[in-house]
Amino acid sequence: MESRVLTNELLDLARYPIHLLEEDAGQDLVADSRDELLTQGTFHLPGFLLPGALRDCVGELEQRFDNAYRHAQEHDIYFARQPLQPPPPPGVQQKLTTRHYTLTCDQLAGTVIRRVYEWQPLCDFLAQVFDTSRLYPMADPLARLNVMGYVDGDRLGWHFDRAKYTVTLALQEAAEGGLFQYRRNLRSDADPNYDGVIRLLAGHDEEIDTLPLPAGTLNVFAGRYSPHCTTPVQGDVMRMVAVLSFVDEPDYRFSAQDRRQFYGRAEPVSA
Ligand SMILES: [Fe+2]
Repeated sequence: MESRVLTNELLDLARYPIHLLEEDAGQDLVADSRDELLTQGTFHLPGFLLPGALRDCVGELEQRFDNAYRHAQEHDIYFARQPLQPPPPPGVQQKLTTRHYTLTCDQLAGTVIRRVYEWQPLCDFLAQVFDTSRLYPMADPLARLNVMGYVDGDRLGWHFDRAKYTVTLALQEAAEGGLFQYRRNLRSDADPNYDGVIRLLAGHDEEIDTLPLPAGTLNVFAGRYSPHCTTPVQGDVMRMVAVLSFVDEPDYRFSAQDRRQFYGRAEPVSA
């Protein structure tokens, strides 16, 4: 029943048969997505959320943003709470700004975006693309699914992700700005490339890419080694993007300290 509803109303499963992993069509999509992720550090499925579902999704979220948390943070490119040891060169840990509204999963009961996130075939598809048998929706009641809303002047500062992969669904573009930029493989486990970090933050890195993410696009991004940011939003249309967290531990949760840092509270507002 759930599968049929999602097929007919929410996701373009004719174009992206992620629920048919036993068939050639599903396996072809897995192979293409995996290949793109390995070679480009990202893959995206434009039009993944169907236009009607997208309209419903944005409409129901607009009301809920009245109660969203206003996240405003100064951070460095590592989201480090302390200076790194041994200390990196000056300029590596310079202060960057992130500002946006955040809706947490507990505020998204009954929404289209939560149905998509909790649809098991999506997790199964991503597990195959990531070539792992261990992938689960995150257990954290707040962090597992977030929708970020960026209004005029809001931005996401340059950062590396903790997770190997980040999964987002673009829901609404800004009138201007709000562009997703990334710099592929700036660092590695063996080399933090501090000179490269300083060059990037100074705006002198010529390998910065800007990724078009029209509303409805599912994007998967390998962000642990590839710093990324969103440029400042301009105008009166809120940029909306959902972040869908999948992890390799069945019961992974943020610490209460993390929840307070990112959402201003540690407990869910509702069951
Ligand atoms: Fe990120």
